[in-house]
Amino acid sequence: MISVAKLYKTYRKENGTPVNAVNNVTLQIEQGVFAAIVGPSGSGKSSLMNILGLLDVPDSGSYLFNGKEVSTMNIDELADIRNKKIGFVFQQFHLLPNISAKDNVELPLIYSNKIDISGLAEKALIQVGLGDRINHTSAELSGGQQQRVAIARALVNDPDIILADEPTGNLDSASGSEIMNIFKQLHSKGKTIILITHDTKNTSCAQKIVKIVDGTIITDK
Ligand SMILES: Nc1ncnc2c1ncn2[C@@H]1O[C@H](COP(=O)(O)OP(=O)(O)O)[C@@H](O)[C@H]1O
Ligand SMILES: [Mg+2]
Repeated sequence: MISVAKLYKTYRKENGTPVNAVNNVTLQIEQGVFAAIVGPSGSGKSSLMNILGLLDVPDSGSYLFNGKEVSTMNIDELADIRNKKIGFVFQQFHLLPNISAKDNVELPLIYSNKIDISGLAEKALIQVGLGDRINHTSAELSGGQQQRVAIARALVNDPDIILADEPTGNLDSASGSEIMNIFKQLHSKGKTIILITHDTKNTSCAQKIVKIVDGTIITDK
C-alpha cells in the first residue's frame, strides 16, 4: 500500500545549517497493518508523516502509493487521495471552534463530491462513542472528546489508512487509552493504522514498530 525508498528531506535553520529531518528512509506498510513510528522529539516523525500523507514532498527518493509513483501525480490526484484514502488525526485536534461536532465531521464530505451525505457524520460520531454529542461545539467537549470528533472526521470518507501524529500527546492518560482503543477497534475492522508517537506505551497494539532517530530508521520489525 505504502512503499517508500531512500527518502530524504532537508530543512535549513535560520542560520543556514542543514537539518536532515528525513535521512535515507526506506519503508513498506502493507494494507491492514497497525504500524507505529516511534522516536524522540525532533527525530523527524512529523516530517515523514507529512510525506507519507502527501502533505509534503521529499527532496529525493521514491514513494509508491498503491503501486503508483506519487511524484507523477497531479494536484487533483493528490488531493483526492488525501480526501478519500487517508484519514488524518493530529495532536492539536484542529477542529473549527464555533461549529458543532457534526459540522466538523462533515467538512471532508464537502470536498468529496458525494451526492448524498446525510447521516454519514452521525454514523462516524456514533462509531467513536459520541452519538450523544453530535450538536456540541468544541468548547463543550473535553480534550478526549474533541480528539474523538477529529477521528470521526478522519473516518467519514471511509479511508483505507488512518495516519495519526501524536494523537494522545495533548491528553491525560485515561483519555489517551480511550483513543488508543478506538484505533485498535478500527484496525480490527480492516483499517491500516499508522500511529506516530514518542510514547512507547502506545505501541503495544502495533504489529510493526519502526524506530527513528535523527531522521533515520534504526529498527523496523
Ligand atoms: N519547516 C521546518 N523548517 C526547519 N526545520 C524544520 C522544519 N520542520 C522540521 N524541522 C526540523 O526537522 C527536525 C525534525 O522535525 P519533526 O519532523 O517535526 O520531528 P518530530 O515530529 O519527530 O518531533 C527537527 O530538528 C526540526 O527542528
Ligand atoms: Mg512531530
